[in-house]
Amino acid sequence: MARELPRLPVTRRRISPFKFLIPFVLVLSVLVIVVTQHFQSISYFLRPLWDKPPSPFTRIPHYYAPNMTMSQLCKLHGWGVRSSPRRVFDAILFSNELDILEIRYGELLPYVDRFVILEANATFTGIPKPLSFYENINRFAFARSKIVYDNISIGDLDARAKRQPFDVEAYHRRSLNTLIRRSGIAVGDVLIMSDADEIPSPETLQLLKWCDRIPPVMHLELHNYMYSFEFPVDYSSWRSTAHLFTQRTGYRHSRQSNLMLADAGWHCSFCFRYIKDFAFKMKAYSHADRVKKQSFLNPERIQRIICNGEDLFDMLPEEYTFSELFKKMGPIPKSASAMHLPSYLIKNADKFEFLLPGGCLRSV
Ligand SMILES: *[C@@H]1O[C@H](CO)[C@@H](O)[C@H](O)[C@H]1NC(C)=O
Ligand SMILES: *[C@@H]1O[C@H](CO)[C@@H](O)[C@H](O)[C@H]1NC(C)=O
Ligand SMILES: *[C@@H]1O[C@H](CO)[C@@H](O)[C@H](O)[C@H]1NC(C)=O
Repeated sequence: MARELPRLPVTRRRISPFKFLIPFVLVLSVLVIVVTQHFQSISYFLRPLWDKPPSPFTRIPHYYAPNMTMSQLCKLHGWGVRSSPRRVFDAILFSNELDILEIRYGELLPYVDRFVILEANATFTGIPKPLSFYENINRFAFARSKIVYDNISIGDLDARAKRQPFDVEAYHRRSLNTLIRRSGIAVGDVLIMSDADEIPSPETLQLLKWCDRIPPVMHLELHNYMYSFEFPVDYSSWRSTAHLFTQRTGYRHSRQSNLMLADAGWHCSFCFRYIKDFAFKMKAYSHADRVKKQSFLNPERIQRIICNGEDLFDMLPEEYTFSELFKKMGPIPKSASAMHLPSYLIKNADKFEFLLPGGCLRSV
């Protein structure tokens, strides 16, 4: 039986290049647009596939209860007790966190011998900034006798030079090292290296002062907060360190040891009183590419994001496993607890309402 051969194949063969090429080009261009527009989100989402977490820390359990002697507390950590306390030096590079700095100095005043603080008239990326500590020095009169301050001038920079932020940062660190040595520190003293918003707790400093045989370098595990103490995030803050000073000790804000003292204080990021300070920090201190649109700096947007516990840069959390990533997606849940916070903050609650539960509205 002679069937009529379908003639389709011939037609199909002739049309196919166009029939498939056009949708293919369309889909490809849409993909290219989506990937370039959302490259950051996609790469963050896929982070568990391309990035490994930093090698794990060995956490030193941290014990405390009121009214215990230092001898009892040191013993619980496996350390001996000293007959006299070590001196403590607190070294920071300051940008513009005035309120958090007041809480830091108010909280740590009884335990710290010298507050070493350096600020510059430009950020690492060369954006000019006021010497805000110098301009507000009277606010810190209560700690004046312990403050060792200096400022550095950053010349006009060539915005296109790629290495420049690293060089400027290295210049900051060298200058801070000089200032630390000028502050009268001696071998065996405790040196805290951190950012202004990474505040070790008094309990931590008491251990460092009074206990013998503590590790020469320890990271401090801090409780992370975002915008205020109303938004606790996690305990992943590790950059702050405590050192027993030697002649070779130099300021760093990166991995320096595998040891980390657990639950050693607070890290409050973007804990500003004024919306303008959020916008400044977003522009000046982040990777410039994070501020993807000028509308990110819109004050109403910033205010809404603060009250909702959302992300200022519209980014996904930086996580190394999918389960952590999904857990942390979406806004940070609000906490109604103002327990276990710096006592200087609670004693001055009227002044720092914006950092406490229910205080998310900011002034411009
Ligand atoms: C604190 O300890 C001292 C001495 O060990 C004791 O006399 C005192 O009653 C304790 N205070 C409290 C509040 O437990
Ligand atoms: C910092 O101050 C110095 C000296 O006053 C000045 O020459 C320099 O231009 C300033 N840097 C910036 C980035 O404003
Ligand atoms: C810091 O900057 C101010 C203003 O530019 C200047 O007057 C002062 O001498 C600088 N140094 C110190 C240590 O205050």
